[in-house]
Amino acid sequence: MSSFLSYATNKKTLDDINVSKKRVILRVDLNVPLDHNLEVMDTTKIDSSLPTIKYLLKNKASVILISHLGRPKGKVEERLRLLPVARKLEDKLGQPVLYVKSAVGPEVERIVETLRPGEILMLDNIRFYSEEEENEPEFAQKLASYGDIFVNDAFGTLHRAHASTVGIARFLPAVAGFLVEKEIKYFAGIFENPQKPFTVILGGSKVSTKIGVINSLMKTVDKLLIGGAMCFTFLKTLGKKIGKSMYEPDKIDLAYHILEEAKKNNVEIVLPVDIVVASEVTNNAEKDIVSVDNIPDNMIGVDIGPKTIEIFKSKINGSKMIFWNGPMGVFEIPRFANGTLSIAKIMAEEKNAITIVGGGESVMATNIAEVQDKMTHVSTGGGATLEFLEGKKLPGITALMDKD
Ligand code: 3PG
Repeated sequence: MSSFLSYATNKKTLDDINVSKKRVILRVDLNVPLDHNLEVMDTTKIDSSLPTIKYLLKNKASVILISHLGRPKGKVEERLRLLPVARKLEDKLGQPVLYVKSAVGPEVERIVETLRPGEILMLDNIRFYSEEEENEPEFAQKLASYGDIFVNDAFGTLHRAHASTVGIARFLPAVAGFLVEKEIKYFAGIFENPQKPFTVILGGSKVSTKIGVINSLMKTVDKLLIGGAMCFTFLKTLGKKIGKSMYEPDKIDLAYHILEEAKKNNVEIVLPVDIVVASEVTNNAEKDIVSVDNIPDNMIGVDIGPKTIEIFKSKINGSKMIFWNGPMGVFEIPRFANGTLSIAKIMAEEKNAITIVGGGESVMATNIAEVQDKMTHVSTGGGATLEFLEGKKLPGITALMDKD
């Protein structure tokens, strides 16, 4: 695994270039959740981009920010403009962030021409242009013409071969930003230098989206704790009745295979022993806590129960490396959030462990539980994290310059 990962660990970074008086095009992943008033609900991705942005401004670069927001599929959607994100960034930086309602064209050109060292401009949502996802070379070249250097700090988007992540790197010197460098360091460490005992906690709705990660971690992990809706596919595989809980009927064989592989590799798989069930997935539904042997036919599993939390805690305690991806239940509904928030707090207490959290929802849970700053690393990647851990080469990394 280690030689394979050198494609990622051997890339040029900000430390390898001089940015002073240069126009730097900085790709960031500011794909943040907005509420219906268009207020930023979670600033993790903005906060994580700050070290690179501040470094560039302090070192007298003029910074041109590119990001996507949501999936507008090549058309302008008013509610997906980046203005609220620019305003939030402005608060965080304590200096003006210029914003333009387009990402290419005369208005952009005019502002870029007048942008001075230490100033910052945010272009509008790059996915308003179909050429972005098509990785259209002329569009990439146009973007590149606004800068002297390309810095990619959008870890969450490195698995996308788009114009602003891959295409642009053909036209400019291209290096990794501090966030990308840090994310690669921690995730490569999982394979190259796993600290034992190594515990992985997986949740979320589908086994199918996590299977690649489970397979690739099978050789390094010691304990695998499984919660979220995906645990019901495993419980069903073991012959339990799961009521109306969500599961993947076509993944029963896969779950069985994972259980068998775990035995062969001495990986301890820990499944819930009790479940919070509800009559429906709403805030005022009837709810109960039941053993996994007594899930009523008409109820839906919505969270892990208190006994499971205690068991998971005992497995997490004393681990030297812990990786968590995916909520333990429907945590968006506060009454079903206890399992997910408890895992965040339990992990945060493991002061002698390397604690890594990945995936938008788990990251948001660390924020709600107010323990984000107690984790060793909070990843900004969702799909990118999973693909990296599956051992896939991320095109956004490949496109960057190698160290000499
Ligand atoms: C994410 O939120 O995981 C990234 O911003 C990538 O978004 P995408 O899945 O729409 O490419």
